[in-house]
Amino acid sequence: MQFGRAMLTHWALDPEVTYLNHGTVGVVPRRVLAAQQAIRDEMERQPSRFLLRDVSGLVGLPRREPTRMRAAAEAVARFIGARSADVVFVDNATTGINAVLRSLHLGPGDELLVTDHNYGATARVAAFVARTHGARVCTVTVPYPAFNPAGLADAIEQAIGPRTRVAVIDHITSESALLFPLAEIARRCRARGVAILVDGAHAPGVLPLDVPALGVDWYAANLHKWAHAPRSAGFLWADARRQSDLHPPVISWGLDQGFVAEFDWVGTRDPSPWLAAPEGLRFLDELGFESVRRYNHDLAWRAAGMLCARFGTTLEVDEATAGAMVTLPLPAQLGDSAADAARLRDALLFDDRIEVQIHAGHGRLWTRLSAQVYNDMSDFERLAEAVMRYADRRPG
Ligand SMILES: Cc1ncc(COP(=O)(O)O)c(C=O)c1O
Repeated sequence: MQFGRAMLTHWALDPEVTYLNHGTVGVVPRRVLAAQQAIRDEMERQPSRFLLRDVSGLVGLPRREPTRMRAAAEAVARFIGARSADVVFVDNATTGINAVLRSLHLGPGDELLVTDHNYGATARVAAFVARTHGARVCTVTVPYPAFNPAGLADAIEQAIGPRTRVAVIDHITSESALLFPLAEIARRCRARGVAILVDGAHAPGVLPLDVPALGVDWYAANLHKWAHAPRSAGFLWADARRQSDLHPPVISWGLDQGFVAEFDWVGTRDPSPWLAAPEGLRFLDELGFESVRRYNHDLAWRAAGMLCARFGTTLEVDEATAGAMVTLPLPAQLGDSAADAARLRDALLFDDRIEVQIHAGHGRLWTRLSAQVYNDMSDFERLAEAVMRYADRRPG
């Protein structure tokens, strides 16, 4: 299949906009939107039967065939190498992380371990849970911008103390877009008796996943970023030994009836994002997951190299630590504050119609590039030209 701008026909994106921000909230392909709409149409023909019998099995005599929710969970489980009994849908990674952390029984003085690259919302959940129990959060500094995966695993291991209970670790970080050495970190946590919750928000559709093989305790992730599912489709995988006393943030009829029963019904809601998630996985499969992975990674990496050369900046990460996103330093004269980042991001969007993530940190501005099969190098060339125009107007 020929990837590049011609692939835009598969998405409803505004063709006038250069979209370099696939990772932020995902972009739903047209055929997945159509599948979701068909599910909604079917639901509205017999809403009560659809929701209470077919999707959840809450009403009626027990049935032999799996519910629609379980059938969809089965497709997701296959995609991540897991058993469907260990996989439940949640709205998003944030919800999955809330479920795990807010189910913990921590005591005063216990510790949660995070890194300074955790997604802001995740770090806030950890802080909230810690303060509720009189526990504390220990934040490990990631060796960065010169990222060193082995150094990170060492730093995490060294930060583990006698009261460390759970580590909350990204698979792919948000702003810095780094692929963490998860299996190695999990090995070291396990050896020290520390449970590990993974924030895999960006991983499905970017990395081939065998979640049970990672040696972690819980894995919360999104299907609506890179796996082409409708928003809001996330999942939570839990090791069988970690499922008792694990509750969704919203308690409903399934309380104390097991992991799947608790999460499969959290009140009346639209289940169409979850039921249409397998269509997103089929789309990815038909595009060719391996080809998509290679195209997106190569494009993001080549684009980052081209942009650094144009900006006169240096990338201090290895190609092996990049997925479909790469974060690179912007020219110094563009500033260093959150306000400078907001100004540039707004200017790119409103003046140049380029949607891209810009942030401030480590004394400068950065941009995080997302590459998807509808992008090609010409998109990143446009970004280079626009950024250089602003840099020329703000001589350092
Ligand atoms: C690493 C990471 N974790 C969690 C999230 C939150 O995702 P959601 O808002 O879908 O829960 C994001 C969103 O970008 C993220 O980058």
